[in-house]
Amino acid sequence: MKASFFIALLAFVSSSAQADAAAAQKAEVCAACHGADFNTPISEDIPRLAGQYPDYLARAMADYKSGGRKNALMSGQAEGLSAQDIEELAAYIGALPGTLKVLPLHRFIR
Ligand code: HEC
Repeated sequence: MKASFFIALLAFVSSSAQADAAAAQKAEVCAACHGADFNTPISEDIPRLAGQYPDYLARAMADYKSGGRKNALMSGQAEGLSAQDIEELAAYIGALPGTLKVLPLHRFIR
């Protein structure tokens, strides 16, 4: 009984490690612009993505793919992504340590 629980747990842990590895591989092409750590983009007009909310990342990718959001560089990148690619990439990139933060509203509205 106990052994089967641990076998199931092990299978779960190793399948999520495999999903991580697959996402990391898919993210390699993105890292060319967004930076290997997704926090050091190659130019200042490319956003930092590490630690961004995964649902925000997924929405942005879906919008580039559908044409709802257009950008000469990103539209082509998102074109070939499946829904599963988008989900995995968003989870992977969102879980990376980043420096993005939400500033208090009083910094903008006085
Ligand atoms: C050729 C360079 C390049 C590559 C490769 C690239 N991106 Fe981007 N990415 C950009 C640029 C430039 C922007 C800003 C576009 C804009 O203003 O809408 C951007 C924006 C984004 C955004 C929106 C960020 C925000 O804050 O709204 C996401 C999400 C994103 N990229 C994910 C990816 C993913 C995932 C990949 C790999 C599949 C990837 N990018 C590959 C250049 C690139």
